[in-house]
Amino acid sequence: MHYSEELVEEVRTRNDIVDVVAGYVKLQKRGSNHWGLCPFHNEKTPSFSVSGAKQMYYCFGCGAGGNVFTFLMNYENYSFSEAMKVLADRAGVQLPEEQDDEQMRQRENKRARLLAVNKEAAKFFYYQLRDPRGAVGLRYLQNRQLTEETMHKFGLGYAGKSGEELVRYLRQKGFEDELIKEAGLASHSERHGLVSQFWNRVMFPIQDINRRVIGFGGRVMGDGNPKYLNSPETPIFDKRRNLYGLNFARTARSGNIILCEGYMDVISMHQAGFTQAVASLGTAFTPEQANLLRRYTENVLLAYDSDGAGVKAALRGIKILREAGLTGKVINMQPYKDPDEFMKALGREAFQERIDNAENSFFFEIRILAGQFNMSDPEEKTRFHREIAKKLCGFSEDVERDNYLQAVADKYLIGIENLRKLVNAYAAQTGLAKPLERPRSGIQRRDDPGESARRSQRLLVTWLAEEPALYGKVKKYISPEDFTDELYRKAAEKFFQGLESGDVQPAGIISMFEDESEQRQAAALFNANLPKPESASEREKAFHDILLAVKKNSYEYYTEKMGTDIGALKLALEGRKALEELAKAHISLD
Ligand code: GTP
Ligand code: MN
Repeated sequence: MHYSEELVEEVRTRNDIVDVVAGYVKLQKRGSNHWGLCPFHNEKTPSFSVSGAKQMYYCFGCGAGGNVFTFLMNYENYSFSEAMKVLADRAGVQLPEEQDDEQMRQRENKRARLLAVNKEAAKFFYYQLRDPRGAVGLRYLQNRQLTEETMHKFGLGYAGKSGEELVRYLRQKGFEDELIKEAGLASHSERHGLVSQFWNRVMFPIQDINRRVIGFGGRVMGDGNPKYLNSPETPIFDKRRNLYGLNFARTARSGNIILCEGYMDVISMHQAGFTQAVASLGTAFTPEQANLLRRYTENVLLAYDSDGAGVKAALRGIKILREAGLTGKVINMQPYKDPDEFMKALGREAFQERIDNAENSFFFEIRILAGQFNMSDPEEKTRFHREIAKKLCGFSEDVERDNYLQAVADKYLIGIENLRKLVNAYAAQTGLAKPLERPRSGIQRRDDPGESARRSQRLLVTWLAEEPALYGKVKKYISPEDFTDELYRKAAEKFFQGLESGDVQPAGIISMFEDESEQRQAAALFNANLPKPESASEREKAFHDILLAVKKNSYEYYTEKMGTDIGALKLALEGRKALEELAKAHISLD
């Protein structure tokens, strides 16, 4: 963290989370919270809550949660410092000059140097392609029917057969060996010293949305392994958060984005006029990339390979898009393998037709599912229908579910009433308004044995956050050590300190954690679903039960570790004493 904790807290407290979130999400006040449709997953009824008192948000559907910083980081894809700048600006807080911070300056400097060396390398490859010695690369790209204009637009290049030339060139431009290596452009060889990582390949510079070269993909000419060699991850090359072609696609204004698998697919699509095409960077499509796309469109068309691997990737992609709240459709590439081959064979009008007829992602999933069952076997056919029913239960809104139900029944000639019965049976079994699957680094897993202990710890913290006055009555029984989950313990320590000094800032605790999944877990700690008993005595009993559960778990936890850990013995003994006292104690909630 490059800003002092005080400054971070000042900026946070001067930006009311309700105001900030209301700028993005339509909120309605209900009880002590504000509610709206969660911007981090797709839903029809609000399960996204924002608490002014706690200065936090939390989604009961998908588990997204955090403070005003994490909200902007997730919604706008900002880094922490970007969120800090925007919020400081919004509240009129003066931030110290960046130069003051030595560590940050160094990091920025490193990033700038990496960008500079990549830019120089891209130039080198570009000129090599146009050099007589690069003729083989040029011929390869021409054979793939790329025009000079396209090659220029994408800055395509060629890495020659001499591994040393690039290194010589970069050294001469003033780049140190360390930096060249760190950028993934060269590596050390026993025999030749520092040599280029890319060798006899056509080169695809990968640009971020600001058109800076952040990495490279290099393709062998002809057959060879690996077919594509990509730069490693570096401080400027995050494969999960960038997309090939997005620097052009973001301004295409076509009302959709076409997601392809390969660089060549993107390039031939752009050449044919579909400048909204992008591809992931040699790895599977990620939730981070889905969030990135959401800035530009709601409609994503998948143009994946038509082979088995492509279909699998499309199924995964659909899920990720859905969780990000985007509408996904699938473009049929048959009988061709990929968009590149399709375009060459049938051309742009035919492709436009395929776009117009892209298949709804739900029907795509069902169609793929259908292929896995032998419909002439009644047993298998029934299983297929059950699977459909299960999938239909994924729609939480009645109207939508019913519309899909009718459509599917029509399409697969299933008696509509029978299918409806199946759906209702499945819904009754599972509780229909089932929360969507957790996006990204989701938190609780139901079958996890530690989960019930964590649940009581969450209930206790949430309760104390809502009624801090209770702390005085329970502090002799519990301490941060009772939080057996490491992250919870860290958060509890800070929280208890706050309770002790009468200054409770749950949202500030979120900022202690850097990692997004940790922030979500910390947010969950303060947003458990508290029981709402009718009578005062029931309330007291509920609270007492939660305390006992937390205490009992920690007693068991330390007892187990007693043999190997001296500190645990002491905690276990103290724990037993406190547990005995607590079991007898009456804690009034008034
Ligand atoms: P072409 O044969 O050039 O048309 O390739 P393609 O665009 O059809 O790509 P393909 O479907 O084979 O692969 C899709 C994407 O996966 C490529 O653009 C690369 O980003 C990545 N990829 C393919 N092969 C490899 C490989 O061997 N290693 C790595 N790291 N990535 C690969
Ligand atoms: Mn291809």
